[in-house]
Amino acid sequence: MTIRIIGTGSCLPENIVTNDDLAKIMDTSDEWISSRTGIRARHLAKEETTAQMSAKAAKQALEEADMKAEDLDLIIVGTLSGDYVTPSTACEVQSLIGADHAVAFDVNAACSGFMFAMNTAYAYIHSGIYKNALIIGAETLSKLMDWNDRSTCVLFGDGAGAAVVTADDTGLMKFTQGSDGSKGMVLACKNRLNNNPLVQNPTEPDYVYMDGQEVYKFAVSTVPASIKKVLEEAGLEVSDIKYFLLHQANIRIIQSVAKRLKADPDKFPTTLEHCGNISAGSVPILLDEVNKKGMLQRGDKIVLAGFGAGLTWSASVMEW
Ligand code: ACO
Repeated sequence: MTIRIIGTGSCLPENIVTNDDLAKIMDTSDEWISSRTGIRARHLAKEETTAQMSAKAAKQALEEADMKAEDLDLIIVGTLSGDYVTPSTACEVQSLIGADHAVAFDVNAACSGFMFAMNTAYAYIHSGIYKNALIIGAETLSKLMDWNDRSTCVLFGDGAGAAVVTADDTGLMKFTQGSDGSKGMVLACKNRLNNNPLVQNPTEPDYVYMDGQEVYKFAVSTVPASIKKVLEEAGLEVSDIKYFLLHQANIRIIQSVAKRLKADPDKFPTTLEHCGNISAGSVPILLDEVNKKGMLQRGDKIVLAGFGAGLTWSASVMEW
């Protein structure tokens, strides 16, 4: 018994900010951003919240799956930018969509968040505990950016993607996942700082910090290795895969992964041109775009891969 994706959905904030728009408020340019990252625009939330975007994406996924919210047993949201420290985004989503019978919780695995959510849903469903799960990757990263730090704030965007998975004989074939906490400070953001009366000098709230070159080195070595691992375990070749749906951090990382796998770059669809990097939202939003464009047929083999802060990573191969 495995899990199969039977519905997808996504939601992006209404407000689009191009590289040229950013160049009006900081010392940057479309040329600098697009030549180094492939990013040309991103959606930034004004009114929308992480939970609201998640719920909209979830409703689309449920509709395609022809499933009612009350039939869900499990809701897992991958996010590092929920609206509250507590309740979890997953509990908020449960309430917004009326999934009264589901158990709901978040996982924080940064850009691997959707993948870790899917792997967790697999574990529950494979073991027979649950049958139907809603998995979501969603972020409002713009609230965690230092808008005075042009080296990070231009890279990220906001949005949510969702998938409904159910117990089936075919679907997820193999997955791998990993973490390396010793490299956590390569990409980090502190939580609210302790300001209790015992603390003498509480410092200001923190924003996302990134050592871009270290992240790049990590991604271009770990991602191809994890993809090769799952393909080998599934008895498949690179040529058997219709699409590789990678976390959308940077076009250079995606091109490097394609080269190292000796795969056709056309098999790597992207959203980063118009979305930027949406951390846990990247993979499910891309999957939904590919699905909605009718690019997937039943039986196609696809690879999903996420990688990011923690450090964390995951790759999976599945039959559509
Ligand atoms: N506009 C203009 N100039 C800029 C900007 C900007 N937005 N940001 C930085 N610069 C300047 C810097 O100040 C520096 O100037 P200096 O040489 O005068 O000091 C110069 O550009 C080069 O800066 P670097 O940080 O060395 O730029 P680099 O070439 O390494 O590119 C980048 C940065 C694109 C982030 C690169 O390191 C990279 O691709 N990293 C991969 C990691 C990544 O994509 N992370 C995304 C999030 S992580 C994840 O999702 C897994």
